Amino acid sequence: MSTLFEAFLQEARRLIDRSLPEYVSNLETEHRLKEAMLYSLEAGGKRVRPVLLMAVLDAYNKPMTDGLEVASALEMVHTYSLIHDDLPAMDDDDLRRGQPTNHKVFGEATAILAGDALLTQSFALIAHAEHIRPDVKVELISSFSKAAGAAGMVGGQLADMLAEGKHVTVDQLKSIHERKTGELLAYAVRAGALIAGASEAETFKLAQYGKEIGLLFQIKDDILDVEGDALAIGKPIGSDVLNDKSTYPGLLGMDGAKAMLETHFKRAMAPLEELGLQGTLLEDLANYIVSRNH
Ligand code: IPE
Ligand code: IPE
Ligand code: MG
Ligand code: MG
Ligand code: MG
Repeated sequence: MSTLFEAFLQEARRLIDRSLPEYVSNLETEHRLKEAMLYSLEAGGKRVRPVLLMAVLDAYNKPMTDGLEVASALEMVHTYSLIHDDLPAMDDDDLRRGQPTNHKVFGEATAILAGDALLTQSFALIAHAEHIRPDVKVELISSFSKAAGAAGMVGGQLADMLAEGKHVTVDQLKSIHERKTGELLAYAVRAGALIAGASEAETFKLAQYGKEIGLLFQIKDDILDVEGDALAIGKPIGSDVLNDKSTYPGLLGMDGAKAMLETHFKRAMAPLEELGLQGTLLEDLANYIVSRNH
């Protein structure tokens, strides 16, 4: 990892870690609900989605703070998806971000509601963002609901459940991964492009990069679920096998999954080269995603 990238990662995470709790602490609601929301928000996620958005801003020489509300909204939706993903009715996991899962601490009902509250709060955050034109906000909210909702993450999560114990084709698995994980990561890139004022042609190319990054991210997640270190990743390994999930290592074997990672990494680099953005933080981020151990 280059020193420049490390410094960027640290600064982006510092900004997001500082602002996220503020958006929740000020809410007028039950103390218990805020406690449950903050518990998962502050449990120590990698903040990859906010970082991705901010890396696009950086590529356009825009200040990271211009994207702080949208980046925080993304992290809230991601965190809600994890709280729900861990519930007994879904993946039934006890450990997340190195700590007991939300429902283990607060009970299922509060965990469900904390997720609901994070989801709804995220849209308000974008609506009230400073430094973003109203027409851009409308576009940001519209594409966010698409990426997070039935056509995106939520639909992908159901497809993931329906594929448990079944044989699916590589194309079907790709579609599940693109939706359950890829859409939110791709949105991070698209949102960065919209906030930075990138042209339509540039936004299109950046979206291609974002799509590949999203897929890469979940393939790597599947690999880590097999050969990762539970202590490092902060969640149990072997959860996918236990739940009979359809995964890349399950379908293609570990070597096949790693070859797929390589293929999609190259596909992520192509649009960057066309945009003259190779060697920027966006390339560093792709490298970070494929080589991460947590
Ligand atoms: C885990 O996401 C769930 C997936 C979508 C693969 P992350 O690996 O980004 O989790 P945190 O935010 O760092 O905990
Ligand atoms: C979850 O995928 C994707 C989400 C939308 C949360 P996984 O079920 O593989 O995520 P982990 O491994 O529990 O983090
Ligand atoms: Mg899951
Ligand atoms: Mg899971
Ligand atoms: Mg997983």
